[in-house]
Amino acid sequence: MLLRFLKLYPLYFSLCLLPLVGIVIDMIFDNLGADPVQALHIRLGDWSLRLLWLTLFITPLQKITQWRGMAQYRKLLGLYTFFYASLHVIVYLWLDQGLAWAAITTDIIESSYIWFGVTAYLIILALAVTTPKAMVKLLGKNWKKLHRYIYIASGAVIIHYYWQLKGNMAEPLFYLIILSLLLLFRLAVWFKNRQFTKMMIPTTRKIRVVKADAVRVDQTLAGRSKGIVIEEIDSDIET
Ligand code: HEM
Repeated sequence: MLLRFLKLYPLYFSLCLLPLVGIVIDMIFDNLGADPVQALHIRLGDWSLRLLWLTLFITPLQKITQWRGMAQYRKLLGLYTFFYASLHVIVYLWLDQGLAWAAITTDIIESSYIWFGVTAYLIILALAVTTPKAMVKLLGKNWKKLHRYIYIASGAVIIHYYWQLKGNMAEPLFYLIILSLLLLFRLAVWFKNRQFTKMMIPTTRKIRVVKADAVRVDQTLAGRSKGIVIEEIDSDIET
């Protein structure tokens, strides 16, 4: 399995770079249309959105196929989402606004759709920064909780996308339907796991272990060789 993954990884890594190669070629040959900055904005924004959706697809796919190796692909796609979103933001700050921070602040305050872009970007940034294994260890249980914010980022991106569109709403609607289906899937899995846990551990019945007096364990095998003898265990355990 690892060998198969190692062979495919460079392929998927290169595939994710193709949109950028296409954009750079169009830049070189002056093929970006009448408003190249806006074209860059739109193409980079669109690709970060597509990659975000692909990232979201990995968990349901992993649940259905039971293939744990898919987590590596989720990481790859997630980091590429961050990469394209960062380029999208750099184009806005640098090429569009010329790094004029006062104008940028005014633009952000006045354009509500950008608030949602900023919200989404900050979440994606936090998820990217906490991707390395060392961060997973450091955050422990909180890592999973933090990474669930990807759904909030996705919702914010849909609003960001929808709000600045002037005409055709079909595409954001399509993304919204997909996001809703993915959320429904997660909800169904969560509900199923909850039911299963309930079946395994009945919460209404208490198991009471009363007085295990003078339990003497006469170990004949491993115990004797180590000279272990346990006596007088007075236990009153409730679970
Ligand atoms: C600081 C954060 C962000 C800023 C300032 C920002 C800015 C913008 C601006 C100004 C536009 C309008 C482009 C135009 O039509 O001229 C836009 C569109 C868009 N942005 Fe962002 N954005 C941000 C974050 C994001 C993120 C995180 C994503 C996706 C993951 C994203 C995806 C998009 C998409 C899909 C469009 C629409 C492109 C189209 O019309 O097809 N943006 N953004």
